[in-house]
Amino acid sequence: MTAIAATAPGKIILFGEHAVVYGRPAIAVPVNQVKAKAVVLANPIGQPGQVDIDAPDIGFRTTMNELPEEHPLRLAIQGVQDVLGIPHLPAFRLRLTSTIPLASGLGSGAAISVAIARAVSAFLGKPLPDADVSAIAYRVDQVYHGTPSGIDNTVITYAQSIFFVRGRPFEYLKINHPFTVVIGDSGMRSPTGLVVGELRQRWQEDPQPYEAIFDQIGKIALNARRILETSQPVGLGVLMTQNHALLQRLDVSCPELDRLVQAALDAGAHGAKLCGGGRGGNMIALVDERNAQHVATALRAAGAPNTIITRIG
Ligand code: MEV
Repeated sequence: MTAIAATAPGKIILFGEHAVVYGRPAIAVPVNQVKAKAVVLANPIGQPGQVDIDAPDIGFRTTMNELPEEHPLRLAIQGVQDVLGIPHLPAFRLRLTSTIPLASGLGSGAAISVAIARAVSAFLGKPLPDADVSAIAYRVDQVYHGTPSGIDNTVITYAQSIFFVRGRPFEYLKINHPFTVVIGDSGMRSPTGLVVGELRQRWQEDPQPYEAIFDQIGKIALNARRILETSQPVGLGVLMTQNHALLQRLDVSCPELDRLVQAALDAGAHGAKLCGGGRGGNMIALVDERNAQHVATALRAAGAPNTIITRIG
């Protein structure tokens, strides 16, 4: 019996996380070295509507109906049903695997939703267009982490570098000179929703200082776009490190991430910053290609259990 498979990449936010939730621009790129994969297989002996879910990486085995109503996996499958107008599902098995570390700023949640939406809709004979896939992943994120900007589901669905402003059509970025980034894992898991929610609370209590920092981050993203589209990417390094300092002022960094950022700079990176929700998860460093291994080694020496070297553009 034919299995239907779909994959979705991870992502990094080069500039603008958190501020993007508050309407400032941000830049994100896909990371193809890591992927989420969904495989759907018909189950001819199952009861109608029986969806068996198996996620062996995390030792998770269940059926869709046993999941709570608001569970992200259930929401992603039901999102497909809603868009396609299919109230009753045939029996099938859904196998989920992912090399994207969970809760680490690399978009694992959105990537799983995107892979599910693609595989399940194709299995039902009506593969969904990207806009619908992205919208399903966005709705799952909304339940999962409250007030997502939409940048994660967009960059992961379209798998291209994007310039993103919440509530506006996104733009593809034409990167003039490819460049190399080393991604370093702090080893600490940190659900984005918690960090975003906590920052929102502080912003609600006293918006002005946060708005000023969001403005500065937004300006950095605009400058970065100009550099990416026109000049050598080395100038991005300074902007990255400035962006990290502003994220520290938002109090979304942590000692582990700060240590990795410093280790990357000491090893000759042009710039470095945390990436994604923060308080754990991953950081990124802009490097010369020939220095990438050296920076990755320095990051591991400073405590990163994993590093990824990725070429962008
Ligand atoms: C998470 O990858 C990026 C954040 O800006 C949240 C969001 O944009 O939804 C922290």
